Amino acid sequence: MASNKKHLTPTPSATGIYAHIVGWGMAVPENIMTNDDMASIVETNDEWIHSRTGIRERRIASEKESTATLGYRAAQRALEVADILPVDIDLIIVATSTPEHIFPSTASLIQDWLGASKAGGFDLSAACSGFVYALNMAAQSIKSGSIQTAVVIGAETMSRVLDWQDRGTCILFGDGAGAVVLRASTQQGGILSSVLRSDGGGADLLCIPTNNVRDLNGHKVQKMFMVGSEVFKFATRVVNQSIREAVDLAGIQLEDIDLIVPHQANMRILQSAARKLKIDLDRFMSNVDRYGNTSAASIPIALCEAVEQGRIHDNDYLAFVGFGGGLSWASMVLQWGVPEPEQHTTRLGQQRRQLSYTLARWRNRINKVRRNVSQFFNRIRPNAGRIFRLQRKIEQDEIL
Ligand code: UT7
Repeated sequence: MASNKKHLTPTPSATGIYAHIVGWGMAVPENIMTNDDMASIVETNDEWIHSRTGIRERRIASEKESTATLGYRAAQRALEVADILPVDIDLIIVATSTPEHIFPSTASLIQDWLGASKAGGFDLSAACSGFVYALNMAAQSIKSGSIQTAVVIGAETMSRVLDWQDRGTCILFGDGAGAVVLRASTQQGGILSSVLRSDGGGADLLCIPTNNVRDLNGHKVQKMFMVGSEVFKFATRVVNQSIREAVDLAGIQLEDIDLIVPHQANMRILQSAARKLKIDLDRFMSNVDRYGNTSAASIPIALCEAVEQGRIHDNDYLAFVGFGGGLSWASMVLQWGVPEPEQHTTRLGQQRRQLSYTLARWRNRINKVRRNVSQFFNRIRPNAGRIFRLQRKIEQDEIL
């Protein structure tokens, strides 16, 4: 058990403004792919996958699902818990390695679907560390006083970029999304510290090329590539170091951390981190067995399940740690505690959110129709002008 932390005074915010997680939500595809299913695609088996990774099954997006639709559903649930209206959101950040497009951002699509008409939005690319990076960016904007409310989403459809012939990678990953609502408050706590790091020297160890990259035969290469054993070594090295740094920055002690919510890549990485940190493995949240590695979505999904399972209480100290492509890694320490006014979902709030989603759908449709009509008139206008000029010429000729 963690020590009594009531006496602790974590590093205060310089502005007196704190960024608290006041809502959380997740969305995963219904379609489950087990290790046995995987064995019918590549040469592998449940025993190998489970003993080397801890994974039993993962979720795979249907044709109708995408990074944006999963992220949208997770964000809706997070808004529900926070009881916040889309119009009150100032910023939406989507951490993803599998965006819908290079641009527009997935965040822009979700902003539109939510009807978050006063929000800015952008995607953030930091692979499996992306959610912690994004949460840090949003928390800093809130603590500086420039915004009040942010929605931070980690969303992925890894199944669309996997090389389904490479058993070293395709067995590891899954699809899903998690989201949190971050809100300004004068109540102490919330996001206390972050440590963000990158080492581009390892860029070729874990990579998803864009569609500009071609092989020697000129064919597009857009599949994930990973040197698993090297990434494994890197992960076991950085996880405990960066958690220690974030704990120091927060002004607390390692033994005060009640729960570590790590990126869900491999159970053996968590076991190694627990050994190095001298922390019981049961203080690490893990659900890698049911979802595999969902990259930037894994931490918010694990957070949601930890809350659901009653593993997080008011005033608890949590640590998040992400690591992956870049190479990149990031740790964060926060003190849990939802400020009072946000604690109950009101029926009126629920109805107003539904209205916002419906209006957003209609606004989107009407805008499309309006643009099509205007394009139609733009196309025929030059001809109309020509006909008009011809007519005038004929009339003038007749006069002459
Ligand atoms: O989210 C981003 C961060 N990513 C990670 O953290 C992933 C880090 N890496 C890992 O988790 C591990 O390196 C893997 C799970 C990917 C691989 O585990 P490993 O213990 O490092 O295995 P390995 O790559 O060294 O391969 C060991 C053996 C090889 O056979 P030989 O050469 O010893 O005969 C592989 O060919 O296991 C074989 N193998 C498999 N066998 C059955 C590799 N993949 C499979 C498989 N099924 N799916």
